[in-house]
Amino acid sequence: MNGIKIKGTGRCVPEKTVTNDDLARIVDTSDQWITTRTGIRRRHHCTTETHANLCAGAAKAALARAGVAPEQVGACIVATVSADTAVPSAACLLQRELGLPEDIPCFDLNAACTGFLYALHTMECLLNASPRKFGLVVGAEVLSRLINWEDRGTCILFGDGAGAAVVECREGWPSIGAVLGSRGDDELLRLPGLEAGERSFIQMDGTKVFKFAVETVPRCMDQVLQKAGMTAEDVDFFVFHQANARIIDLAVRKYRIPTEKYYKNIQEYGNTSAASIPLVLSELEEQGKVGPGSRVLAVGFGGGLTWGGALIEFV
Ligand code: UT7
Repeated sequence: MNGIKIKGTGRCVPEKTVTNDDLARIVDTSDQWITTRTGIRRRHHCTTETHANLCAGAAKAALARAGVAPEQVGACIVATVSADTAVPSAACLLQRELGLPEDIPCFDLNAACTGFLYALHTMECLLNASPRKFGLVVGAEVLSRLINWEDRGTCILFGDGAGAAVVECREGWPSIGAVLGSRGDDELLRLPGLEAGERSFIQMDGTKVFKFAVETVPRCMDQVLQKAGMTAEDVDFFVFHQANARIIDLAVRKYRIPTEKYYKNIQEYGNTSAASIPLVLSELEEQGKVGPGSRVLAVGFGGGLTWGGALIEFV
C-alpha cells in the first residue's frame, strides 16, 4: 500500500475562552485544583460559531497551507462525536461549503478521541483506491454542548475546536503504519445518543480512564515503533492526545523524550477529543517545529474504548 504524508494543516477555534476561575463560579472547584490535576488553564467554547463553521475554518486553512484546490480532493472525513446534525454529516456539509467534487466519499467517523488517527488510516486506504491523490481529514468537536454543568469531574475538562490536515498519497511512500484498537465499554466513558432525547451529557469514570490511558499510551508507542522497525530516537516529534497533562508527562518520562520533542496545548484548549491531535499538529507546523521531512509519532486514546498510534511524515 502507498503511504500518505501531511501536506498542510489548519485549525479554527471559537473566540470565547472560559477560564478555571469562570468554572469555579459554577461548580465547587478551583483554578489550583484544575491546573495541578489536569494542566488545563482555559478552554474555548462556541457561542455563535457552529460545528460546521469550525470544520470549514480549519479545512480552508489546511487547503491554503497545502496549496491544494478543493477539486483535487479525493475524499473527506470528519472525525467527531458532536456534529451539528447526524444527517447530513459534517463531512457532507463541508463538501458543499468548500465545493469539493461530488464523485468522492465524504463521511463522519466516530472513534471519540482517537477519531483523527482512525480517520488518517481510513484516508490512506481510500486514497490508494482513488484517482485523486489528496485527502482532507478534519477533527472537530463542540463538546461544550455535551457538558453536564453540575458534574465538576467532567465540566472542567472539555473544550471546542477543529483541526484539519490535507494529506497526499504517492507511490513508494511508506504507510503511516497505524496501530488501532477498540474494546467495547460503556462504563468508563459514555455519551448517550438518541436514547437520551434532547439532552445528552458526557459521563466518565475519570480515574479508570486515567489508568486505561497510562497503560495504553506506551503500549501504542511500542507497537507503532516495532511495526516501523524504529526506535524513539528515529522520531522527530511526539504528539499526544491532550486529555490530561499528567498522562503526557508519564509517557514523556518513560521514554525520556526531551522537552523540544513534544508539545502541550491542553492549557489553552482542554480536551477537544477528535480535534486534539490536529490542533497540536497545526500549531507545530505554524511554529516551524515540524515541516517537510519531519517524522511525527502521534498517539490517541478515548471513548469506545478506542486507541491508536501512527508515524506521520510531513511533505
Ligand atoms: O479524552 C479521553 C479520556 N479522558 C481522560 O483521559 C480523562 C482521564 N482522567 C483524568 O484526567 C482525571 O481522572 C480527572 C482529571 C478527570 C480527575 O482527576 P483525579 O486525580 O483522577 O481525581 P479523582 O477523580 O480521583 O478525584 C479526586 C478528588 C475527589 O474528592 P475526594 O473524593 O478525594 O474528596 C473528587 O471529588 O478530587 C475531587 N474532584 C474535584 N475537586 C475539585 C473531582 N473533580 C474536581 C474538581 N475540582 N473539578
